[in-house]
Amino acid sequence: MSAPTKNAKLLAWVEEVKNLCQPDSIVWCDGSKREYDEMVSLLKKLGLATELNPAKRPGSILFRSDPSDVARVEDRTYIASKTKEAAGPTNNWIDPDQLKETMKGLYSGCMKGRTLYVIPFSMGPIGSTIAKIGIEITDSPYVVINMHIMTRVGTKVLEVLGNGEFIPCLHSVGKPLAAGETDNVWPCAPIEKKYISHFPEERTIWSYGSGYGGNALLGKKCLALRIASVMAHDEGWLAEHMLILAITSPDGERKFVAAAFPSACGKTNLAMLIPTIPGWKVETVGDDIAWMKFGADGRLYAINPEAGFFGVAPGTSMDSNPNAMRTIEKNTIYTNAALTEDKDIWWEGIGYDAPAGKIIDWKGKEWDRAGKDPAAHANARFTTPASQCPSIAKEWEDPKGVPISAILFGGRRPSTIPLVHEARSWNHGVFMGSIVGSETTAANIGAVGVVRRDPMAMLPFCGYHMGEYLAHWIKVGGKTSADKLPKIFYVNWFRKTKEGKWLWPGFGENSRVLKWICERVAGKGKAVDTPLGFMPTEDAIDISGTKVTAEDMKELLRVDTTEWKNEVVSIKEHFARFGEKLPKELADELAGLEKRLG
Ligand code: GTP
Ligand code: SPV
Ligand code: MN
Repeated sequence: MSAPTKNAKLLAWVEEVKNLCQPDSIVWCDGSKREYDEMVSLLKKLGLATELNPAKRPGSILFRSDPSDVARVEDRTYIASKTKEAAGPTNNWIDPDQLKETMKGLYSGCMKGRTLYVIPFSMGPIGSTIAKIGIEITDSPYVVINMHIMTRVGTKVLEVLGNGEFIPCLHSVGKPLAAGETDNVWPCAPIEKKYISHFPEERTIWSYGSGYGGNALLGKKCLALRIASVMAHDEGWLAEHMLILAITSPDGERKFVAAAFPSACGKTNLAMLIPTIPGWKVETVGDDIAWMKFGADGRLYAINPEAGFFGVAPGTSMDSNPNAMRTIEKNTIYTNAALTEDKDIWWEGIGYDAPAGKIIDWKGKEWDRAGKDPAAHANARFTTPASQCPSIAKEWEDPKGVPISAILFGGRRPSTIPLVHEARSWNHGVFMGSIVGSETTAANIGAVGVVRRDPMAMLPFCGYHMGEYLAHWIKVGGKTSADKLPKIFYVNWFRKTKEGKWLWPGFGENSRVLKWICERVAGKGKAVDTPLGFMPTEDAIDISGTKVTAEDMKELLRVDTTEWKNEVVSIKEHFARFGEKLPKELADELAGLEKRLG
């Protein structure tokens, strides 16, 4: 097949990768429906994809990954900047020349027996000035179909690219095939051979050994966050792990909100929320990534660079997230969900018991209903087109982006952090973002449920020194007048009782907190000044019609001075890691907090 481009750099790179990886053939992806269907047929033939019941899940398929390849691998993710200092204390670093040597050894012949796919993709609407073009080379047809949904793929991208610059993204599952051998299980390499590598100065990504989402769909975390965060730093904008939503009040006032929560901490759910308070409406612009730039009017405008949702399946139900459930009714790729006898999917927290009959668990075995093991993996995911979402906002593909009125930070904290508090200023808000702590989740391979600091939910996604990243946030606040900057809030849906129960009902009920946030943005909303910042008065959040009692509310909004003094000790340790690079403004904010706590 002749190459559908004259871009010399691209042609040379494909040739170089071909010589290194030695695939049997090369396919340039055109992004068409025909191409998608061909890949699905191939994957079904190989036994890697299971077609779901077309009467129940039209156009949808299920994959079961290798049990070792179910999540991101932060321990195997590298920011290979020229110096270790540039990567900073929170990233894994290997000298780029050394890492390339190691990886070239792995890439050598790694595509034997396979097809090399060239995927031209655009993060952001094709041709818009804000969009970035990437080219992913992969040997995984699973990656091709997922990229079709998650990004804008195809020949049109090459036309827009012309002879211009692109971000090279090299991916291999790391499992060459011997003559006559085919995949009968999900191909990947063992953990010690997995590398998710970023070369920030060269704006290049090399990924080896994993087929899972964030490790393999390189437009997402690798390009749109790790590499884009470096570009954003250099160019004066923000690339963030944030959802974007539109919220309309009963008076018809419409505002846009962005929110950063760590992986599996509620972005998709908040982005698609159906308010329980009458007259309010929420629409979805994005559920995972926001690129924010200043508009001519001095306000921050956000775009969602993605075209689909790669969402957490377990816990998604008609109760918790009906908009997601409707989005995934068709044309969806499921990974590591359970399979019912009538070829439908099922997972824990889907809202109904597993139907009668045989259930195949995510490992491909008959599920033991009485046993301890879940039927679906805790990080089972759906890949689904954003355009199918019933709550999608009309602006979701607007290249101008949407003006952000409020930024929320949050995480899973069973104690200490109140339901909501508001920053006194931009710098105070940056401080709040910088101290976000959250229990780790199944979105990464490693311990689950351990509280760690995750500044702006970007700990695994910042492509450079975290101290410099925080300084960049401070600097961004100085680029416009204070009245034009979004107001910043810190939320916590995950506070628990002593007995370990959620204190706050969450999901649609989070609209009650959003309402207070909108009131505050409008200069209204009852608030009290506390050592942490502004907090709602006990009656400011409307809890009518919920099971939340006045007692619960008191607990949800309680600021425990002893707990917070311990928190300050832990924040000091956290800040100490950044040494000289910790912005003075944040040290000042910490000192201010300590003083107010008395
Ligand atoms: P990534 O895609 O990994 O970046 O995650 P995300 O932030 O989009 O997380 P998501 O919305 O998929 O939520 C992950 C888990 O948190 C699901 O199991 C949800 O059921 C649960 N969750 C989301 N919102 C709430 C909430 O308000 N309260 C409680 N208790 N759980 C929630
Ligand atoms: C996350 O882990 O934050 C995700 C899923 O959004 S992945 O794309 O796999 O990183
Ligand atoms: Mn995410």
